[in-house]
Amino acid sequence: MRILIVFESLFGATHAIADEIGTGAGPYGEVTVVAAHDIDPATLPAVDLLVLGAPTHNHGLSTAESRGQAALLAIDTFSGLQLDRGENDSSGMREWLHSAAIPSGTQVAVFDTRIRGPRLFVGSAGHDIAQTLHRFQICLVAKPVSFSVMGNHRLEPGERSRAAHWGTELTTLIRPERA
Ligand SMILES: Cc1cc2nc3c(=O)[nH]c(=O)nc-3n(C[C@H](O)[C@H](O)[C@H](O)COP(=O)(O)O)c2cc1C
Repeated sequence: MRILIVFESLFGATHAIADEIGTGAGPYGEVTVVAAHDIDPATLPAVDLLVLGAPTHNHGLSTAESRGQAALLAIDTFSGLQLDRGENDSSGMREWLHSAAIPSGTQVAVFDTRIRGPRLFVGSAGHDIAQTLHRFQICLVAKPVSFSVMGNHRLEPGERSRAAHWGTELTTLIRPERA
């Protein structure tokens, strides 16, 4: 089973979750974890499961403006935050998705990181990804899952292990004829 996990991450939380999902799925397939800016969306390889994840910004997927705000936070040494991407990596999951050529029949799962709370109040990047995929007539193998960060943008305790469990669970949701 080939599993490709593509993530966007400004401060490293979504990156860490992507790695943990890969760790959980690792024993059951060949896993690749890659940042969205490091994989050409137009030439995606055929995989059995594609997992997409991004941080929630302003209730949805990041924009050039929100990524700029994140970069400013990282410049502030008192924030303790560092950018998880190069200075020149200007695009994010939103732009990546719009040029993504996802091979038909690919099974897809989606996650995000966000502040704990009702989606109505805090939003969800995963929900935005799911809506975009729906427009491309791509179905998800599971409902989007959110992993919680604290006010300091770092993951809540326990979220890493929850992500590893979800990674394992995802491998059981793949249709058997493609596994
Ligand atoms: C500009 C900006 C806007 C944000 N807006 C939201 C939001 O609307 N809802 C939310 O739950 N979290 C919001 N957050 C917190 C992010 O979800 C958090 O920084 C992210 O999950 C950390 O993941 P990362 O380290 O992979 O970037 C925002 C963060 C930034 C920098």
